[in-house]
Amino acid sequence: GRVLVLAGGLSHERDVSLRSGRRVAEALRDVGVDVFERDADSELLSTFDTDRPAVVFPLLHGAQGEDGAIQEVLALTGLPYVGSPPASCRQTFDKPMARGLLERAGLNTAPAAVLPQSTFRELGATPLLEAIVTRLGLPLVVKPARGGSALGTSVVRKEEDLPSAMVECFAYGHVALVEQMIDGIEIAVSVIDTGDGPDALPAVEIVAESGTYDYHARYTAGTTEFFVPARLTPELTEQIKRSAITAHRTLGLRDLSRTDMIVDSAGTPWLLDVNVAPGMTETSLLPQSVRAAGIGLGDLARDLLGVALS
Ligand code: DAL
Repeated sequence: GRVLVLAGGLSHERDVSLRSGRRVAEALRDVGVDVFERDADSELLSTFDTDRPAVVFPLLHGAQGEDGAIQEVLALTGLPYVGSPPASCRQTFDKPMARGLLERAGLNTAPAAVLPQSTFRELGATPLLEAIVTRLGLPLVVKPARGGSALGTSVVRKEEDLPSAMVECFAYGHVALVEQMIDGIEIAVSVIDTGDGPDALPAVEIVAESGTYDYHARYTAGTTEFFVPARLTPELTEQIKRSAITAHRTLGLRDLSRTDMIVDSAGTPWLLDVNVAPGMTETSLLPQSVRAAGIGLGDLARDLLGVALS
């Protein structure tokens, strides 16, 4: 049967998803897999009646793609798909919820505050933000509780910049996560499981030219330098790989995930985010780890489809 690569959708990460989808579809065609691509729009369910795929590879990022919605639809329609079950996606995409689960599994997340937009409005911005700065200090990272690709995310170094960072964040969602900014090396560890249990791929060390790995630095070739494997001691490399596998297991993930973290100068990893649909664009992280592991992206994608079908 044919393989459906789902990409696009209506989230803020639509463009990224289209690039991820195209890349994986091409990689699969290169290894001889019969693929068709489709957007996740209102016609999706009706096409399943006429053009039913054997298996689906969802490459939808952001809301609906990573929050369990599309996974629920695929589960209901009885279509096998690559990736994590709906409930696991839901709890992973919700950063405050995921942080709680990761902390209880013994992993570190930065001290943080969760601030719904309604509270911000009702209590008045100034005293609330002052209290956050008193508790967490500066600099801070303000990000949407549900989101990706650093959209709506700001680094706040001066207290007076916090209100505008909150407004920017609330443009992307109604709950903000305000985290203490951890100083250190930015690392991404991808985990894949093609049937023998979760395995961590070579870690990627991220050095954004501008100092901030924002949307531009993520998706514009040449704006970020990557080191694969990351320049860490063998002990630290083992530790971060174990952390990423623990995160994958703790959140109940399947097939593939990517855990982003900061390793501070004392060698402590602080988990920032776990992604159930890691980006697959030309500048994305997981494909670089796959290449460094000597695995072809098409071979990996085909193996993951095989797992979904088994
Ligand atoms: N949210 C983007 C797609 C990523 O994490 O790669």
